[in-house]
Amino acid sequence: MDLKQTTLDKIDRLVPRYPDKRSAALPLCHLVQEDQGYLTNDSIEWIANRLDLEPINIAEIVTFYPMLRTEAPGKYQVRVCRTLSCALSGAYKTCKQFEDAFDCKVGSTSDDQLVTLEYVECHADCGRAPVVMIGEKEYTGVDSEKAADLIEQIKNGTVETE
Ligand code: FES
Repeated sequence: MDLKQTTLDKIDRLVPRYPDKRSAALPLCHLVQEDQGYLTNDSIEWIANRLDLEPINIAEIVTFYPMLRTEAPGKYQVRVCRTLSCALSGAYKTCKQFEDAFDCKVGSTSDDQLVTLEYVECHADCGRAPVVMIGEKEYTGVDSEKAADLIEQIKNGTVETE
């Protein structure tokens, strides 16, 4: 597994901060996923070795946390905030609109690999709910009209992701 040097540097800085190496497992999973897009068996083994643990210790974490992926994500990662303010402002309806548009249930990737749709928790922008992230870009006030617009932009490849 080839990790970027910047990821390796982050990992080297992070691990010594934890007196018990096991506690670094979750943050390491996030860093490796950020670098690779998802966690393969190789990366699980690599993390386990780095922390002097068994692969099963890491596999348990990876299967427990829904934000950790074991399959390649789609071209666009669409993350809909479902915490209170967003939920009350229609986040579930917005999410359903994305599900229908890409024929893809939340928590999965569309068959054409265009979109991975996920729920996330509060993005600390509750006053502008519902909030949707596409890649690293935050979209606010995503009502059905704005969602339709974003869906169109994803389909024609013009949506901004950072
Ligand atoms: S509840 Fe969605 S941004 Fe805070």
